[in-house]
Amino acid sequence: MIALACDHAALEMKREIIGLLDDMGLAYKDFGTYEAVSCHYPLYGERAARAVASGECDRGILICGTGIGMSLVANKVAGIRCVVCSEPYSAQLSRMHNDTNMLALGARVVGTELAKMIARIWLQTAFEGGRHQNRVDMITAIEQGGTCLLYTSPSPRD
Ligand code: RB5
Repeated sequence: MIALACDHAALEMKREIIGLLDDMGLAYKDFGTYEAVSCHYPLYGERAARAVASGECDRGILICGTGIGMSLVANKVAGIRCVVCSEPYSAQLSRMHNDTNMLALGARVVGTELAKMIARIWLQTAFEGGRHQNRVDMITAIEQGGTCLLYTSPSPRD
């Protein structure tokens, strides 16, 4: 289940992403907004992020004008690793190396076809684990109020 949320700047792009999810056979839950009236993106981004953090949804896609506001909101929720992307390479690597569980897109930054390409590759790419799992664990240690500075693990390779 993919959580979706957008603000008034991104309603049309959310419809396009819903079309992509339908094409890919992926179910979604839309946390709003549902109308083109100016609104506060944190209200919708937080709902979608909490659904991912709780396990109600597996991953999520957030869209606002730049993707920045939504990504900032999502990354305040414990357990969320949200990346804002305007090209597919970072979207792919964010899955392979960072195990991102939310993607943020900027409807005023990228065109529809590029946004769908970014979302598709992000949805299709798996986390590699291994040494990257250690690094994600270090991020989680900071998130939980600890530190990663005392972390001991094999030497970093790349
Ligand atoms: C709305 O004007 C805009 O600020 C919002 O969509 C988003 O870009 C915020 O980061």
